[in-house]
Amino acid sequence: MRIAVLGTGMVGQSLAGGLAERGHEVVVGTRDPATSLARTDPGGFGTWAGTHPAVGVARFAEATVDADLVVNALPGEASVAGVGAATVADGTIVLDVANPLDAGHGMPPTLFVANTDSLAEQLQRTFPALRVVKSLNTMTAPLMVTPRELADGDFSTFVCGDDDEAKALVTGLLTDLGHRDVIDLGDITAARGVEAMMLVWLRLWGVVGSARFTYKIVR
Ligand SMILES: NC(=O)c1ccc[n+]([C@@H]2O[C@H](COP(=O)([O-])OP(=O)(O)OC[C@H]3O[C@@H](n4cnc5c(N)ncnc54)[C@H](OP(=O)(O)O)[C@@H]3O)[C@@H](O)[C@H]2O)c1
Repeated sequence: MRIAVLGTGMVGQSLAGGLAERGHEVVVGTRDPATSLARTDPGGFGTWAGTHPAVGVARFAEATVDADLVVNALPGEASVAGVGAATVADGTIVLDVANPLDAGHGMPPTLFVANTDSLAEQLQRTFPALRVVKSLNTMTAPLMVTPRELADGDFSTFVCGDDDEAKALVTGLLTDLGHRDVIDLGDITAARGVEAMMLVWLRLWGVVGSARFTYKIVR
């Protein structure tokens, strides 16, 4: 599958690397390739790109040409504009892993959209021809692609979206990455719930003292 990952941060790097390892053709989308590649500090995109030569790097509009799947790994507030800058055909699946965090009121961050709306719904409303699937926003980036490294993957991963075929495709990718318990929460309005789970996740982060935890639905 040809996959464009929008975002060069921790999430973009993790997902691009993990999906490329599974044989997908991956291009990372950035606002400016030269600037991103010049980040050669530890964790910087240039450092990461040097060890992942099979992954392409391009501006949003070029990275997304002919993509079967576009991953939104941008800051919440940059997501609508970022997806808007992509070159996407009608029906393209957008895997939205972003959280609508607002750090403008101190720590922990609040959500700039919540309760009766969500970032995923904003994306779906703004781009009705795309098929938005929300997933993976409830766990730290490394767990997204190496879930078996925490409790052998014994935790839950949520998906929601309006298009069943798109959710099935994303679920297949997640299963291929090692996610063992993928729970379909229904239509895109369920993103209100999984995005709000961040409010608890952020508190847990301080209590647990590490980001290596996530939710498990016991039933
Ligand atoms: N970090 C995690 O473990 C984690 C877990 C779950 C969900 N999330 C969510 O996933 C998303 C990505 O997380 P992250 O930690 O990888 O994000 P990040 O490092 O804060 O940002 C990702 C990339 O977005 C680009 N960017 C930054 N500001 C932008 C703007 N105003 N307009 C367009 N592009 C901009 C930058 O790339 P360029 O400079 O190269 O363009 C940056 O490297 C966020 O929404 C976050 O809440 C994160």
